[in-house]
Amino acid sequence: FSLKDYNTFGVDVAARYFAAVSSTDELIGVLESVRQKGNLDIKPLFLGGGSNILFTKDYEGLVIHLILKGISEEAVSENEVLVTAAAGENWHSFVLFCLEQGYGGLENLSLIPGNVGTSPMQNIGAYGVEIKDVCEKCTVLNLETLKTETFDSAECKFGYRDSIFKNEGKGKYVILDVTFRLTMKNHVIRIEYGAIKSELERQNITDPTIRDVSDAVISIRQSKLPDPKLLGNAGSFFKNPTISKSAFEALQQKFPEIPGYAAGQWVKVPAGWLIEQCGWKGKEIGNVASHHLQALVIVNKTGQAGGAEIFEFSQKIIDSVEDKFGITLEREVNII
Ligand code: EPU
Repeated sequence: FSLKDYNTFGVDVAARYFAAVSSTDELIGVLESVRQKGNLDIKPLFLGGGSNILFTKDYEGLVIHLILKGISEEAVSENEVLVTAAAGENWHSFVLFCLEQGYGGLENLSLIPGNVGTSPMQNIGAYGVEIKDVCEKCTVLNLETLKTETFDSAECKFGYRDSIFKNEGKGKYVILDVTFRLTMKNHVIRIEYGAIKSELERQNITDPTIRDVSDAVISIRQSKLPDPKLLGNAGSFFKNPTISKSAFEALQQKFPEIPGYAAGQWVKVPAGWLIEQCGWKGKEIGNVASHHLQALVIVNKTGQAGGAEIFEFSQKIIDSVEDKFGITLEREVNII
């Protein structure tokens, strides 16, 4: 079964078995039948929007595509509403739905590719907001007991591009739905991120609404991030590294213009800058390139790239950043 249309890199790999499930009962049914047969020695792989994954070879097991749909709402006060979306809802469509209802909280996260169900895994974040700021809880299926459980926001152990689902919970749960605590009246407008501020200034907007913030984010993203429908990619390929203050100061001696943002006792350095300084921005090797407008994004330039080829390209970037700056970039995308 070809997975080409199921991963935003557009890599043409195959799954040995494939199932699409649109409800929790269907999912449990598939998992029970896998158990009964007992002949699948490779764990099932759960796939949402396929926007943060790189297949480097065919998957010799079962791929389960999660297409659970549905949105429900419950007002909890005059100002707050809990909105629950099923895992298979497209993230951006969900953000637009919330904006149409006049619910605030997700506007900075507009246009992020992928589905709701994978948003907590890597605590998606952009332009000053992360899922952890608005996530109330998630419902998950425990893969051992095949019973549902609830994880509140604290139990999700969110961190920068990180959660329990990437650590001790890895491979143990499937996220079925996510609940967000959003505002109905007194919205908190978050425009501290430089790029949003300048976009709103450019548009002469001084008192932005949640819709204005969303529109600004959309136009910033469209101006530098490639649309996966047109050019295969998985967003930022690497995490922005955090280094100690002393390591940062030492680098400043050598590279006075190095950007860095304080993050507690650490300094976060934009990986895009490090990669660009190594000469990778816009550079192509075979079918793969670093995006010419945002070096942190690796693209399937010709649409013909193989996963292994993309992986090797990313390794070359890691090696050269390490050589020049002594910083080892970590991949953000899941490598299969
Ligand atoms: N920069 C360069 N060259 C580049 C790209 C970036 O020099 O080619 C430097 C510039 O100094 C720029 C700074 O990096 O000011 C930050 O760039 P940008 O605002 O584009 O953000 P980012 O740190 O590269 C992160 C997230 C993005 C998110 C943006 C906006 C990570 C790994 N990436 O990128 O998330 O949209 O901030 O908040 O944290 C994603 O995860 O897929 C993703 C797109």
